[in-house]
Amino acid sequence: MKYPLYRAQRLRYRDSLRSLMRETSVSRTDLIMPFFVRGGKNVKKPIVSLPGNFQFSIDILIKEIKEAARMGISAVLLFGIPKSKDELGREAYASDGIIQRAVQEIKTRVPEVLVITDVCLCEYTSHGHCGVIRGRPSRSRVEIDNDATLELLAKTAVSHACAGADMVAPSAMMDGQVGFIRRTLDENGFSTLPIMAYSAKYASAFYGPFRDALESSPSFGTRDSYQMDSSNAREALREVRLDIEEGADIVMVKPALAYLDIIRIVKDTYDIPVAAYNVSGEFAMVKAAGKLGWLDEKKAMVEIITGIKRAGADIIITYHAKELAALLSK
Ligand code: PBG
Repeated sequence: MKYPLYRAQRLRYRDSLRSLMRETSVSRTDLIMPFFVRGGKNVKKPIVSLPGNFQFSIDILIKEIKEAARMGISAVLLFGIPKSKDELGREAYASDGIIQRAVQEIKTRVPEVLVITDVCLCEYTSHGHCGVIRGRPSRSRVEIDNDATLELLAKTAVSHACAGADMVAPSAMMDGQVGFIRRTLDENGFSTLPIMAYSAKYASAFYGPFRDALESSPSFGTRDSYQMDSSNAREALREVRLDIEEGADIVMVKPALAYLDIIRIVKDTYDIPVAAYNVSGEFAMVKAAGKLGWLDEKKAMVEIITGIKRAGADIIITYHAKELAALLSK
C-alpha cells in the first residue's frame, strides 16, 4: 500500500479509542462559578454583556447556588454591588455589607458549597479604582496609596472571614497584599483560611463586561499602574514568586485565553495549585459569536476550557461553569 494508515489515525477511529487516548479532561470539580450579588429582594437583573448572568439579590442567589450545587458546581466566587460607593470603598469592609450578608446566608442555607470572596475595592469606590487614591489624580496618571490600601483590603478579608467565607481571593494587585492579609487573618484567629491570590493579573481589555456588571469602570485614568503589562511573562513569575513567599495557597493567572503560556510556565516553575480566570470578555466573545451563528458555542466552550486545563490550570473560574456542568453530566 502506498499510503499506509498512520498509527495515529488508527487510534482515532472510534470514540472509545479516542477517550482512552485522551490526555486532558475537565471535570465539574475543577470549576468555580462567579456570582454577582446586590441588595433588595427578588432581584434578577440581567447583565447585558454577560448573557445568562445576573445581578441577584441574596434570596434569589441562594436558589441559584442551590441549583448550581445540584449540578455539581461546589465552589462559587462572589462579587458585590454595594448600596453606595465612596472614596474609601467603605461597604467593602462593613460588617453588614452586601458580601458579608450574602456569605452568612449562603453558609447557613447551603453550607456544603465552598464560598470564595473577591477582596478588592473597585466595586465599592466612587472612582472605581482598586485602592485609595493619593493626591489629586490627573487624567493620565493615577497614584494609588499602596499601604493605605493594604489596611482596607485586610479589613475586608477579615470581615469576609467573620461572615463565614471559606477562602478569600485578593484581586487588587497591591504590592504586599497577600502577606499583609495573611498576617491580619492569622492575628484574628483565621490561620486556617486559605488565600487564592490573583498573582499575575494583567491590565486587560477582556474585563469589559465585568466592569459593566459591577458598574466599576474607573471614572478617570486606567489600572495600568497596578495591573500587569500584557507583554510580560517573566514579570508574572516574579509576581507569583512573591505571592508564594507571602503565603498564597493558590496562585492565579488572569485572564486565561491570551495567557495560556503564562499558565504553563507558572505550572512548570512552581509546585503550588494554579487557578486560571476565564474572564468576562472571553465568555462574551463566545456568546456573541454563537448568537450570530458564527461558531458552535458549546463546542467552542468545551475546547476553550479544555485548553485552559491542558495549559496547566488546576482550577478554572468561569461563567460557563453551569453550562459546562450540564454538558459533562450527560
Ligand atoms: C477586580 C476584578 C476584576 C475582575 C475580577 N476582579 C476586574 C478589573 O480589574 O477590572 C474581572 C473579571 C472578569 O472580567 O470576568 N476586583
